[in-house]
Amino acid sequence: MKYNNAETLEELLKKVSSALSEYVSYSQAGGAKVLDQMPASSLAKDLNVNELVKDGGLLQGEALQNFLQSYLAHSQHMHHPHYIGHQVAVPHIGSGVADLIHGVINNPMAIYEMGPSGAVIEKTMINWLLKQVGWYHADDISDLGHDPHHGAGVFTHGGSMANLTALLAARAAIAPEAWTEGAPSDLVIIGSSVWHYSISRAMSIMGMPQDSFYTADVDQNDVITAAGIEQAIARARTNGKRVMAVIVNACTTSTGLYDPIEEIATICNRESIWLHVDGAHGAAALLSEADRHLMKGVEMADSVIWDMHKMLRTSTLCAVVLYKNAEHMAATFQQKGSYIFHEKEAVGFDLISYSLECTKSAMATKLFWILAIEGEQGLADYVSHQYAITKEFYKLISETADFTCPYTPESNILCFVYTDISEEQDKGAFQLRLRNALVNEGHYYITSCDFRGTTHLRLTVMNDLTSGQHILGLLDAIRRIAESIKSSSPKS
Ligand SMILES: Cc1ncc(COP(=O)(O)O)c(C=O)c1O
Repeated sequence: MKYNNAETLEELLKKVSSALSEYVSYSQAGGAKVLDQMPASSLAKDLNVNELVKDGGLLQGEALQNFLQSYLAHSQHMHHPHYIGHQVAVPHIGSGVADLIHGVINNPMAIYEMGPSGAVIEKTMINWLLKQVGWYHADDISDLGHDPHHGAGVFTHGGSMANLTALLAARAAIAPEAWTEGAPSDLVIIGSSVWHYSISRAMSIMGMPQDSFYTADVDQNDVITAAGIEQAIARARTNGKRVMAVIVNACTTSTGLYDPIEEIATICNRESIWLHVDGAHGAAALLSEADRHLMKGVEMADSVIWDMHKMLRTSTLCAVVLYKNAEHMAATFQQKGSYIFHEKEAVGFDLISYSLECTKSAMATKLFWILAIEGEQGLADYVSHQYAITKEFYKLISETADFTCPYTPESNILCFVYTDISEEQDKGAFQLRLRNALVNEGHYYITSCDFRGTTHLRLTVMNDLTSGQHILGLLDAIRRIAESIKSSSPKS
């Protein structure tokens, strides 16, 4: 192989690392736009995709520098303090380095012998995460002997996959025959109307009709009420259904508010119903002393999912499903593949039996690298900071005359609306126009969401460099765009 060798790797890395460090540096300094979009076909030309794919040549002349320049310039600049958009992590550089190492050595996480180092890291990271939930009862996370008193877990490529895996485990617990006989038709799931759509997809994949999701009543902020859960359970039973699982949001995607886990866990434990906590975003509160109370009662649940690529700063993808009872994890999948599940003189352990995916990346190494650089306290401080600064931004925005926030944030997700619009204007449609114009300008990146039937502007404060000054700048930009929309609208 002419290029696939150690010398080329070294030469490439020098150029790539220089371009990337320059990129991180100007992004963090708020240089250039956070998002510089151009039409997709123009971007394909700018990237010179056609010629490069046909003829190669990336390593000749200035081709690599030209490619990287265009590629990075037209990326979403997550390190930019004006990146206040989705729940996707501003990646820690340690995670990036772990990605690189994995890319070079490519040890998949399925069977121990294909990547002992990565497998050991995955197991220790599972133990560390279980410990945060209260399902690992020893001090030493590197004690990898099987102890039935501990919980168990496995990394998955994303929270959607983790939700599906947890629900398959819940189904195996209530209806183990489903594996050979198909899903029984009397199973239902209970949750709130603001569930993440991955739950709906998981149900469809599992052959459950959408009307087997029983919606529990929520309060004025879309938070599940205990009474709503009790009523939904009673409704299911009156209809001759068995409740396969109750799902709580910790926190919801749109508002970042937490369902009352402890109250609902008490009901589920009393009724012997599987409780699943969708902590894709908000399980991170477990790390923060000031915010841990939001997850109170999580140890009474049966399963939890948690995305590292949201609040634990890893690049995509890196998620986990955790179980209180290790036997539940073991019962999830019952399929055998003779080329892997054969009797052997085992050194180590195989993870393949517990995840839907056969081949997986060594994603736990990304979390490990961040912890190994920052320490537990460093990661905890990041979460605490993001949650605390969002409350400051809430105060700042809600005290500004032409903006309002519908609820006090609990996490780093904040919804708000611009209010200085005429009665005749559709309030929600106006927010959407504001958001679209703002994103097209490219100086700020925020999102929108539906809350109680109206579109709201939405911030997810993922970047620890975003300050009150940046938020004031954002409000000014919104006002400027609002004036321009108002002056261009036909007068009624
Ligand atoms: C509450 C919740 N659950 C699940 C998911 C799905 O996670 P992923 O995007 O990693 O598949 C998300 C994603 O935003 C989420 O907010």
